Amino acid sequence: MKVGKKKHMHLQDYKEQLHAPYEWYRTMRSTQPVWKDPDWGGWHAFRYADVVRVLSEYATFSAQGQRIMQAVGYTGEIDPIESSILRMDPPRHHHLRSLVSQAFTPRMVTQLEPRIATITNELLDHVATKGEMDVIHDLAYPLPVTVISELLGIPAELREDFKRWSDALVSEGSSEEERNTLLQEVQGMYGYFTQVLEERRQHPKNDLVSALLAASVDGQHLSNVELLGFCGLLLVAGNETTTNLLGNMVLCFDEHPDVVERLRSNRALVPAAIEEALRYYSPVKAMVRVTATETTLGDQHIEPHQVIVAHIGSANRDEDQFTDADRFDIEREPNRHIGFGRGIHFCLGAPLARLEAKIALNAMLDRLPGGWQVADVPLEIIKSFAVFGAKKLPMTWGI
Ligand code: HEM
Repeated sequence: MKVGKKKHMHLQDYKEQLHAPYEWYRTMRSTQPVWKDPDWGGWHAFRYADVVRVLSEYATFSAQGQRIMQAVGYTGEIDPIESSILRMDPPRHHHLRSLVSQAFTPRMVTQLEPRIATITNELLDHVATKGEMDVIHDLAYPLPVTVISELLGIPAELREDFKRWSDALVSEGSSEEERNTLLQEVQGMYGYFTQVLEERRQHPKNDLVSALLAASVDGQHLSNVELLGFCGLLLVAGNETTTNLLGNMVLCFDEHPDVVERLRSNRALVPAAIEEALRYYSPVKAMVRVTATETTLGDQHIEPHQVIVAHIGSANRDEDQFTDADRFDIEREPNRHIGFGRGIHFCLGAPLARLEAKIALNAMLDRLPGGWQVADVPLEIIKSFAVFGAKKLPMTWGI
């Protein structure tokens, strides 16, 4: 197999950027595993056992959107996503999750398999013979966004709007002007979803929006804000995360060039390689909670109403949980990573994300022969608190 000859300068740059958060995580796990950040007064948890507690002990660590917003001192308008299941505690969370689970079933996801394969192959048709592509632009972004728009019953022509909207939802904005532009984008998105919901109310179709409108528990339906919040959540969750999983898999393989050939000759290893990529470069690197009561985490006493950042990316590299945690090992057993979270908020889209990743990786192994190499250019890592991945990822293969 061909292994790239890279100029060390650039390779060094890109590895440094990629590994920077992991070096910080390692230092924090061993020196200050539960740390109060003096800059903004919130807490951070870095060790696996603590992160699992923060994510799953919902009575102590609340996920409620309004509580989190209050604790960080935010007084502006609250995005409907803050009223979605992601930002809700029991019993309301349980109720709502049962409602959306009716519309978002594993069976429905399995039925998508042929369509996902077609979309993947159409995307690869554009690049397969060229010997190069930008993994993000040519495959990892358009695949999940097409799948999620089709699921939501939204035409593919609006894909560019989707991209802007979902980028706006995860961006923070560095000036007043930028924040206003982002807000306008987000309002445009909710305006669009309001229109779609109204149309489907009048004329139900065989799509997820219609199923969400019809779902009921004890005669109760989702409210309008909950419906909007769920559509917004699916848009972000279905885009940024799966895109980064596909891109991050390529980064893992670039660091371990033998893996591509091993996977090509033994496809049974594909699902485990995906799980290991979820652990090694976790696409969702952090989630937040707020303390509902006082508690002790590690050896730190924490008061109520304190925001805590649970560093999933760090937990997934904790040496106390994973032997040789910094080694990318596609045959790791067991691999109890928390890339999809843990407990009642465990990712609802995990079956879909796993299916898309499996189809995409198998198609790439079939159609992109030889060794895969990430181009020798500095990588730009997404500046985000919650997601981890590269903005662009040029790669080549042997043709
Ligand atoms: C590789 C891709 C993905 C990753 C790494 C990921 C990760 C996560 C994580 C870590 C959580 C837990 C959040 C918390 O505890 O606060 C979560 C929740 C969620 N995810 Fe995903 N996700 C992915 C793809 C998707 C997709 C494709 C969808 C839907 C189309 C989706 C929908 C959701 C929803 C609705 C929740 C909230 C569940 C709840 O609060 O009960 N995710 N995801």
